[in-house]
Amino acid sequence: MSRIPNAPSLPQPTPEERALSQRLIDLIRAEIARAGGAIPFARFMDLALYAPELGYYSAGKHKFGVEGDFVTAPELGAVFAQCLAHQCVQILVALPNSDILEVGAGSGALAVQFLLELERLGHLPENYFILEISSTLRARQRALFAELATHLLVRVHWLDTLPSAGFRGIVLGNELLDAMPAERFRTDAHGGAQIQVGWENNRFVWREARASDALRDRLVTLGLPDGYVSEIGFAAEGWVRNVADILEQGVLLLVDYGFPGHEFYHPQRAAGTLMCHYRHRAHDDPLLFVGLQDITVHVDFTAIAKAGTEAGLDLLGYTSQALFLLGSGLEDVAARVDPTDARAHLQFTNEVKKLTLPHEMGELFKVIALGRGIEMSLAGFRLQNRRDRL
Ligand SMILES: C[S@@+](CC[C@H](N)C(=O)[O-])C[C@H]1O[C@@H](n2cnc3c(N)ncnc32)[C@H](O)[C@@H]1O
Repeated sequence: MSRIPNAPSLPQPTPEERALSQRLIDLIRAEIARAGGAIPFARFMDLALYAPELGYYSAGKHKFGVEGDFVTAPELGAVFAQCLAHQCVQILVALPNSDILEVGAGSGALAVQFLLELERLGHLPENYFILEISSTLRARQRALFAELATHLLVRVHWLDTLPSAGFRGIVLGNELLDAMPAERFRTDAHGGAQIQVGWENNRFVWREARASDALRDRLVTLGLPDGYVSEIGFAAEGWVRNVADILEQGVLLLVDYGFPGHEFYHPQRAAGTLMCHYRHRAHDDPLLFVGLQDITVHVDFTAIAKAGTEAGLDLLGYTSQALFLLGSGLEDVAARVDPTDARAHLQFTNEVKKLTLPHEMGELFKVIALGRGIEMSLAGFRLQNRRDRL
């Protein structure tokens, strides 16, 4: 019998999907039992997304695009990747013989379009490294290159971990940080609680435990009212510190949805930013459809900037996705669209609207650049650099 609750407003999983989810549920239940009755939400999110062969990103589910659960900027078409390539050329010119590392490459759509544009611009890097936690996605990325840009495969190398110290070049991540496991908390008069997940009456249930020292210290800094529920991206911050450790010279460029700290922990967001995506429906119950749906949190860009600068990086830029794309050659990309080709023109216009309009991805999505040994002003932030708001 399936233990997945029925949510009438959501499409229901197939029997095969339910069976896959059940295996993951059993695995998480076993870990909960070993842990004495509950595990931190961050660990639950980690297993739900990345448990080998069973987690949402590790299993074979489609995930991206119209047939999947959500659409990301590179899945809309080539415009996002082409603009990003224009920004990266500026950096590659200043850093000859440097490499590019994309982390969390999803379907491979960004990597393929991005490299094709760099080739067109005459600035192909020697090496394009991809660090992807999911082996099924790695296979999918390789297949996409084989289908659309076989000749570029010689430059693409898949990594299992971050490269060792001494990396020179660009580290890219689109919608990476939002997919990293986040700590969930509730504030109270006793230093705060860590939100956990337990198992009772045949289903996952919320539990709470006293906050760890690290969580307690952060809650003191945040100074939130009692009863406030939200998330802290400790894993994302740690990852930025790890990148800082290996980046000898270059830029870490991250695109994601989120806010500066004071907006992230705004009184109106007292239930946090946790979201789930299942077949293009968004809802807020991560205990549902375990392994079959995406679980995500927004990014606190102030915390990301702090993690990077405390690890020795410079905060080079922070702005909205719309302004970043406009500063990174969107007009040049537009100029290449044949106005007499009605279909191409419509596709381009629709894509640009999705990427830049404030009520679509234009304002909620932000771009942050942290770097080391970079003297120039990056083109993507020339229209507006909001780094002083972080
Ligand atoms: C929301 S998806 C975004 C995919 C792609 N960048 C896009 O924009 O379509 C998150 C991706 O990050 C990967 N990922 C998450 N944490 C990672 C980590 N620590 N290292 C490498 N990849 C990671 C996931 O497997 C997935 O491919």
